[in-house]
Amino acid sequence: MTDIQTKISLTGGVDFWHTPAIEDAGLPEVMLTDGPHGVRKQSAASDHVGINDSYPATCFPPAVGLGSSWNAELLVAVGVALGEECRALGVGVLLGPGMNIKRSPLCGRNFEYFAEDPLVAGVLASALVRGIQTQGIGTSVKHFAANNQETDRMRRDSQIDERTLREVYLRGFAKVVTSARPWTIMCSYNKVNGTFASENHFLLTEVLRDEWGFDGFVMSDWGAVHDRVKALKAGLDLEMPAHAAHEEGVRKALAAGEIDEATIEQAYARIERVLRLAIASLEDAPESFDVDAHHALARRTAEQCIVLLSNDGVLPLAQETKVAVVGEFARTPRYQGAGSSRVNPTRLDNALDAITALVGHDVPFAPGFVTAPGQELAASAHDDAVAVARDADVVLAFLGLGESHESEGYDRDTCDLPAEQLALLEDILAVNSNVVVVLSNGSSVLLPFAARVRAVVEGWLLGQAGGPAIADVLYGVVNPSGKITETIPHRLEDVPSFLHFPGDTSGVRYGEGLFVGYRGYDASGTDVAFPFGHGLSYTSFGYSDLSVSSSDAGLAVALTVTNTGERAGREVAQAYVSVPGSKVVRVPRELKGFAAVTLEPGESRRVEIAVSADELAYWSVIDHSWVVESGSYTVEVGSSSRDLRTSASVEVAGNEPVRPLSMESTVAEAMTVPGFEAVFAPMMTIFGEDPDLVRMMESMPLAALVGFSGQPEDTFQPVLDGLNAARH
Ligand code: BGC
Repeated sequence: MTDIQTKISLTGGVDFWHTPAIEDAGLPEVMLTDGPHGVRKQSAASDHVGINDSYPATCFPPAVGLGSSWNAELLVAVGVALGEECRALGVGVLLGPGMNIKRSPLCGRNFEYFAEDPLVAGVLASALVRGIQTQGIGTSVKHFAANNQETDRMRRDSQIDERTLREVYLRGFAKVVTSARPWTIMCSYNKVNGTFASENHFLLTEVLRDEWGFDGFVMSDWGAVHDRVKALKAGLDLEMPAHAAHEEGVRKALAAGEIDEATIEQAYARIERVLRLAIASLEDAPESFDVDAHHALARRTAEQCIVLLSNDGVLPLAQETKVAVVGEFARTPRYQGAGSSRVNPTRLDNALDAITALVGHDVPFAPGFVTAPGQELAASAHDDAVAVARDADVVLAFLGLGESHESEGYDRDTCDLPAEQLALLEDILAVNSNVVVVLSNGSSVLLPFAARVRAVVEGWLLGQAGGPAIADVLYGVVNPSGKITETIPHRLEDVPSFLHFPGDTSGVRYGEGLFVGYRGYDASGTDVAFPFGHGLSYTSFGYSDLSVSSSDAGLAVALTVTNTGERAGREVAQAYVSVPGSKVVRVPRELKGFAAVTLEPGESRRVEIAVSADELAYWSVIDHSWVVESGSYTVEVGSSSRDLRTSASVEVAGNEPVRPLSMESTVAEAMTVPGFEAVFAPMMTIFGEDPDLVRMMESMPLAALVGFSGQPEDTFQPVLDGLNAARH
């Protein structure tokens, strides 16, 4: 029997990466480590910012790349591989996936997140969780919640209205918890509406457990706990890493009767149950994993993460095209983000070697600019690059952000590419207009040159095998199929959260509300460089025969997608829903489902997209619950949020609660209730027949109407009670 003092010790780490062994209970230490796109098991000194080396592990594309694949099956496969590597390396819980919403392209950690949209983020994070957990290894879905910036991330108060919190910032987490049942959740550093996430009873208990049925344990982000007693009471179970003074605090609080044994027992039981699952899978674990197979999977994955943003037909390149490669990123790839997620890759392929191998000979190359502080280049590097570019048929310009430009721990203050790269591009364009830009970046950059180059390939961060994947896309060995999950704006000032990011020490007000990303750009009609969901292919697709039907389960959407071009290709059909006559504030359209289809030239296939009733619901702040509004819904399906090819309307029978009439109800609300008009008719004429006055009266509360009529208010309440009773 484990005593309560021993149980207290399991509510905190024993060191940086392990839970303590509980000998009485036969529980060994269990390792929890980053994550998310590869296993970062540190071999020597521990740190959580990725400085010290870790054992080699496959570096898959980070979430910024994975997001663009829109491919849940692929992410399950990546998850399986990650789980296998965890087992081989003796890791019981992988700290990921991260799934915060990309509220601003400036967030330094966007590379670790999937999307500006909770549906894509939720579906893809669920897939990774499923994959990893098939191996008996836990996941820790993070950072719960509203950690959408790095500036002051350990203290800043994210101030979010109730509906936005539910519909945008919690919705993806809800999907993962309810559909993929992660073993653990990691709370974020920041405050949410005034209370640290680690001490937030509303988030950790009321929402996560009571509403969503989460049955795993909640751990803190590293150093996110300020007071372990408060945290345990709020629903946190495990503080990471070790913190002796906080543990002592719990012992004292128990002795003083400030925390009860049941709270500690509960945390202990939740942690123990999950750790036992991991321990069982680590017992007979193999000591190695298939490095080659995982590298091949990393390459296959990277292929699907690449987004062809623009192309005037210059791509795919023919093998004989005389290319010149410019930019150090082609030789020294930027393939993952900086900070706690940094993986020590088993291998690292670059695009320059892959292009050389593909064309069968060396190609002219010039690094052009430095990509990391301390890198030294010849003084003539810029001019050398222009010279190399001059003679080529096509210049492949590898531009992007270096590690120091974006990282966990701080945000960017610009979305521009570094000035020296832009200057080099201008000078190259002056001597050769046949330029293809290939980007390496963890979050969107502005592309003011997009219309002046012949193609832009968004390579995000593609993991250790991204180089050959890029080469294959450039030469058409792979037909690109990625689609961006974050809008690329024309100007930073256009970003809907611009005026409210990153706030100051008094907090960050999510003032754009529901209008995050494409929801905001669409509402204000702002022109963007590349819209959410956009991504080209070397073939083309036709959309036809849309059918939409509605039932209690939600919407059944079906359509035919045809490959109308000359190459096999994969298309991600996206279904957006709007509610034109809605009584509540709505964004113009929201992604509610998507499906991918791979087609041979000329082939057609019926694609089905199921939209569950839950997805149709909005969060009613009057009822504090999800409500599906009744009425006509529009479903638009297309190739991006601004390339909608077909649409249909459908009547949805909602589940709006019947709200009793009160003296605070408006005349317009009351008019929808049978019997009201007859009873109140005499009063309604006090303003005469003037249509403007009648209209004015519609927004008047009944109390005011009665007041103007000079009638005693108390005689009407029974009338309303009667009308209310008749509605049930
Ligand atoms: C990060 C987490 C990470 C943890 C452990 C924190 O600083 O925010 O995402 O899992 O460190 O390295």
